[in-house]
Amino acid sequence: MKRTSGALGIAVVGLGVGQHHLDALAALAALYEVRAVCDLDEGRLAATARRLGTKAMALRHLDDVLADPSVDIVALCTPPHLHLAQIRQVLAAGKHVVCEKPLVGSLDELAQLRLALAQGEAQVFPVFQSRFGEGLRQLKHLQACGFARHALVATIETHWRRGAEYYATAWRGRWATERGGVCLTQAIHAHDMLTHVLGPVHTVSAQLATRVNDIEVEDCLAAALRMADGSLASLSATLGATSNRSRLRFLFADLSVESASANPYRPAQGPWRFEAATPAIEAQLHEALAALPPAREGFERLFELIHASLRNGSPPPVTLDEAEAALSLVTAIYASAAADGAPIALPLPATDPARTDWRPAGGGFAKSLA
Ligand SMILES: NC(=O)c1ccc[n+]([C@@H]2O[C@H](COP(=O)([O-])OP(=O)(O)OC[C@H]3O[C@@H](n4cnc5c(N)ncnc54)[C@H](O)[C@@H]3O)[C@@H](O)[C@H]2O)c1
Repeated sequence: MKRTSGALGIAVVGLGVGQHHLDALAALAALYEVRAVCDLDEGRLAATARRLGTKAMALRHLDDVLADPSVDIVALCTPPHLHLAQIRQVLAAGKHVVCEKPLVGSLDELAQLRLALAQGEAQVFPVFQSRFGEGLRQLKHLQACGFARHALVATIETHWRRGAEYYATAWRGRWATERGGVCLTQAIHAHDMLTHVLGPVHTVSAQLATRVNDIEVEDCLAAALRMADGSLASLSATLGATSNRSRLRFLFADLSVESASANPYRPAQGPWRFEAATPAIEAQLHEALAALPPAREGFERLFELIHASLRNGSPPPVTLDEAEAALSLVTAIYASAAADGAPIALPLPATDPARTDWRPAGGGFAKSLA
């Protein structure tokens, strides 16, 4: 096991969204030293190495990254179908893993990952950086203070635009490599925020369609959820919006909450609108929020908390159980849509075949391109 005090030596593998990991790591220079960047694509690798200067090695292969004893932790930012095998490889080398969403491609794969983790001491940190923003943090703080406990309904919208240029990258749009569409790849962030606030999902009824792009996977989603606490949630997602917008709205007995971030990729960011049921509650809300100290957001907060977890044993920013909850919801959405919206209860039975493979038997969902 690598040392876990002081700065951690880190390597970033996959230099698409990996660039955002590198930006966050640069802002946390006292906590992390970037030892290596890695990508099979020589152009991307060279451009990133130039951007970083001479500080990090530029390597094409994960094997070479793992051979470096100064690397304590590896951030995997590679396409989804590679995640499980690469996580196992990194764990077998005794190094910690940060892995992009979707963590793995099925609930059975997650069970396999847990078995691999039990073989050693290295840890896996799933990525859901979008949940780290001021607005969502304020809501969680208010819940911890006793507000927003009795949820009524929530609406979660992921309305983004993706076209031919986005799908020109070979792994995207295909079940074998992306493993899913808007449900798995884009809306998973906002749906993670839903369960972060309201807790587990009880039942899912969903419809999916491919109406925007000529791809195998779905690009439109509508779903109705009953949460375990009895509240209800509506999910709406498309990749055919005229512009990119995300919106979360939570209605509780004592207050209504709406995300108001203009950044579609950071809906948790402030300011959020908190509308109290009475002036007295409003005053208490202000008092509670005034006591909340500032914090980093997004990838910076994620990596800051990962460092604290490894160094001090504090809770990880995103747990494996939370990654499993996200993948369980994905599985239930696909299972329900395959059964024309029939309700699917969670957790799925241990013998449910959807745990092994959530892909629809016919190869896709209702297809009617615009
Ligand atoms: N957290 C977020 O907000 C967020 C945003 C975008 C993408 N992602 C996720 O990140 C992952 C990558 O997505 P992307 O959009 O950056 O994809 P991308 O195709 O732009 O980048 C992936 C990179 O990985 C490299 N690569 C592939 N196989 C490799 C290997 N075996 N070894 C080394 N490098 C390899 C490719 O050459 C490519 O440069 C996906 O799982 C995606 O869902 C997360």
